[in-house]
Amino acid sequence: MTATAVVGIGELVTCDGSGDSGLGLRTDAALVVDDGHVAWVGDAADVPDADHRIDLEGRAVLPGFVDSHSHLVFDGDRAAEFAARMTGERYDGGGIGVSVGATRAADDVRLRGLVGRRVVEMRAQGTTTVEIKGGYGLTVDDEARSLRIAREFTTETTFLGAHVVPPEARGDRAAYVELVTGPMLEACAPHARWADVFCEPNSAHAFTEDESRAVLTAARNAGLELRVHGNQLGPGPGVQIAVELGAASVDHCTFLSAADVAVLVDAADTTVATLLPGVEFSTRSPYPDARALIDAGVSVALASDCNPGTCYSSSMPFVIALAVREMGMTPGEAVWAATRGSAKALRRDDVGRITVGGPADLTVLDAPSHLHLAYRAGVPIASTLVTRSDGWVGSPRP
Ligand code: NIG
Ligand code: FE
Repeated sequence: MTATAVVGIGELVTCDGSGDSGLGLRTDAALVVDDGHVAWVGDAADVPDADHRIDLEGRAVLPGFVDSHSHLVFDGDRAAEFAARMTGERYDGGGIGVSVGATRAADDVRLRGLVGRRVVEMRAQGTTTVEIKGGYGLTVDDEARSLRIAREFTTETTFLGAHVVPPEARGDRAAYVELVTGPMLEACAPHARWADVFCEPNSAHAFTEDESRAVLTAARNAGLELRVHGNQLGPGPGVQIAVELGAASVDHCTFLSAADVAVLVDAADTTVATLLPGVEFSTRSPYPDARALIDAGVSVALASDCNPGTCYSSSMPFVIALAVREMGMTPGEAVWAATRGSAKALRRDDVGRITVGGPADLTVLDAPSHLHLAYRAGVPIASTLVTRSDGWVGSPRP
């Protein structure tokens, strides 16, 4: 293997916990990448000899974004549903059935191609770690296949058989929960690290508190770690259940009571509140109060929730811009939440920061500092940094 020195870094965001928002900012920094790992970090003046040298001419380098919440395994188009929402329709989860029908009808080659293209799209925008859920199959075979395909792209795969009660099971919800907690879980557990549930009493399609607890408990007994979709459409039990069962993350957190916030503060070492502002954007909903959560001491992460219904955007820079503009986060807090915060939501210590010995998961901005992520909203300044002997490229294959 050959070592590559990366010099001319205008601002290096290490996320080592020091300084403003824990970003560990360094200027005039350089690093050496060797065999896919960071071999050295220091001042540009001290950079050691390496086989190759890449000059970034003052660009900023960050840890690759960690997108800890996505639903990439789906087929079908729901753009008309989005358009209807923009003129006043409310989101209630009912459209998920449309994606389920299209996903079941897709063959493996097509589904793998769709997921692969979405992962490439993410990497092109600076995401280097992604969690991928199933949840658009909702039969034993279709959920197992969704996770098998997701596993080809990431180790962070999530069983979401309890996404909604599928149309054919509506007459007997209890039987569907038994399917999810029995044969479906058994078939999916070998392909999943995590289990998730759409705990949402405000949607007739999603799962109640008791149903959610049954699904999460069975999954935990099967050796999966837990995450929860909670408090998305209205107040509800999602946060409380997530904390009670030791979930790594409760995601959405759009409608929280004071008691929910207090529980999240107490559980800050265990359970992260993952905010998904692309969803509020795409569903015309009020944004969560990130400022209040951070000030209270809640652990906050940001993720895309890329999915065909509530947010068909894979862009972490877009999420960061929304977090700053709409949720009261500083640019530094938003970058932290999209890297270290979301790594914590995946219980990963190796990603979301730049450290010697860690993976060279690096994002480069065509800009001098992380401030530009929100400042230049909508402009494709972020890309994954892939070092090659002849320079760097931004859109590698997964
Ligand atoms: O995270 N809320 C549940 N699941 C997704 C939306 C799925 C869909 O509408 O297709 C979400 O928002
Ligand atoms: Fe989601």
